[in-house]
Amino acid sequence: MTDTSRRPGIFAIRDVRSLITETAEEGHGLKKAVGATHLTAMGVGAIIGTGIFVVIGKGAGIAGPAVILSFVLAAVACAFSALSYAELASSIPVAGSAYTYTYATLGEVVAWIIGWDLILEYGVSVAAIAVGWGGNLNAFLDAAFGFALPDAIAKSPSEGGVVNLPAVVVVLAITFLLVRGVTESARVNLVMVAVKLVVLTFFIVVAFANFSTDNFQPFAPAGVNGVTTAAAIIFFAYIGFDAVSTGSEEARRPDRDLPLAIIGSLVICTVFYVLTAVGAIGIASPEQMEGSDAPLATALDEGAGMDWAAAILALGAVVAITSVVLVIMYGQTRIFFAMCRDGLMPQRLAQVNQRYGTPARLTIVLGLLISVLAALVPLGAIVELVNIGTLFAFIVVNIGVIILRRTRPEMPRPYRVPWSPVLPLIGVAFAIYLMTDLPWETWLRFAAWLALGVVIYALYGYRNSRVRSEPEATPGWAKEPEQ
Ligand code: ALA
Repeated sequence: MTDTSRRPGIFAIRDVRSLITETAEEGHGLKKAVGATHLTAMGVGAIIGTGIFVVIGKGAGIAGPAVILSFVLAAVACAFSALSYAELASSIPVAGSAYTYTYATLGEVVAWIIGWDLILEYGVSVAAIAVGWGGNLNAFLDAAFGFALPDAIAKSPSEGGVVNLPAVVVVLAITFLLVRGVTESARVNLVMVAVKLVVLTFFIVVAFANFSTDNFQPFAPAGVNGVTTAAAIIFFAYIGFDAVSTGSEEARRPDRDLPLAIIGSLVICTVFYVLTAVGAIGIASPEQMEGSDAPLATALDEGAGMDWAAAILALGAVVAITSVVLVIMYGQTRIFFAMCRDGLMPQRLAQVNQRYGTPARLTIVLGLLISVLAALVPLGAIVELVNIGTLFAFIVVNIGVIILRRTRPEMPRPYRVPWSPVLPLIGVAFAIYLMTDLPWETWLRFAAWLALGVVIYALYGYRNSRVRSEPEATPGWAKEPEQ
C-alpha cells in the first residue's frame, strides 16, 4: 500500500481492493447475473433514443447536411473516453462508475462532486427522456388513430400543460421493473433493443430507397463551427455507453465482458447513426427536421410522403426511448447505491431487498423524485446541461486512468488503454473541446449545480463519510493488502 492511500480529510481515497471485497458484504451484495450480450444491450439500450429520434433535428438545423460529420466527430470524441471507461470498469467492477473510480483516484470530495454531477447525466436526463417519450407517444397516437392526449395531461406547465402524465407513467413503470430485479429488467431491455435496431434499419432502408442528393447542397452552411457546435449537442445521442460500467458489479465476467460491451455498443450505435443521418438528409431538408418533435418521422412523412412509415417509426421511437429510460435509471440507482454505501448519502437507503436482490428502497425513492421532475420539467435546455455534466465526468475518468496507473501500478487490469497517457489525454482534450461549444448559460447552470453539491457535502457527506468515520469497515484502505 502506498502512503497516498492514507491521505486523510476530504481527499481520503478508497482502496480498490476494499472496494471490491466490500461488494460481498452481508446485505450489500448485488446478484452477479449479467453476461456480455446483456451488457452490450444495456449500452445500446442507453444510447439509441431521444438523441437520434429527436435531437438530430436540432443538429441538422445548426450544421445542415454536415450534421453527418457531427455524428462522426461526437463518436470519435466518445471513443477515447470509452477506452478509459473500459479500463476502469474492468479493473474496478464495483457499482458507481465514474463516482467510484474517482474515489479510488482523486479522493472523496472530488468523488462526491462527480457523483453529484452524474445526477445530471442520469437522474435529470431520465426526466427529460421520459418527457420525450410522452411526446412521441402522443405523436404516434395522433398518426395512427387521429387521437391525442389533451395538453393539460400531456405537457409540463411551461409548455402550456398542467402535468405530463405519460412521462410519469413511464418512469413509475420502469421503477417497478428495476425493483423486481436486474435479470428480468435486462431481459425486457434485450427485447426493446432488438425492436429499436429493427426500426432504425427500417428507416435506413426506406430512406435509401427514396434517396435523393438534392438536400445535400449546401453541405455545410455554417462551416466547421456549425459541425462542432452541432456535435456538442448531438453528443447527447451517444451518452449511455458508460452506463454499462454502472452495472459492472453485477457482471459475471467483468474482465472480458465490460470492455467488449462498452466499446461494442459505441461502435454499433455509430454505424446506425451515420447511416440514419445520411438517409434522413437523403429524404428531407434540414429545415423540415429542425422544427419537428419527431424529426425522423417528419422526414418520412413530409420528406418521402409516407405517413404509414412515419407511424411505424413513431411507435419505434416510443419503444427505443423506453429502453433508454430503463438503462439510464438503472445507472442512477447504482451510482446512488454506491454513494449511500460510502455514507455520503443515508446508508439505510442502500439496503438490498432480500427477495429481489436489488436496492429496492433506493430505487423507489429515486423513481418518485424523477417522476415529479418528469411531470413538471420540459426538455429544452436540459440536453445541454446533461451534456456538460457528462463531458465533465469523461474528463475525470480519463485523468483517473492516468493517476491510477501511477498510484497503483501493480493493480490487475484485465483491460488496458493502449498508449496511456496519450489516448486518455486526447479524450480529455475532446471533452473540453465539445464543452466549450456549449452556451454560457449552460456553464452557469452547471456551476450552480456543482456549488449546491459542495454545500450538501459540507452539511452531510463530510460528517457521515464511512471512510473517515469507520476506517475499520474498509480493511484494504487501512491495512497492507495481502499479496
Ligand atoms: N443517448 C441517449 C439518448 O439519445 C441519452 O436518448
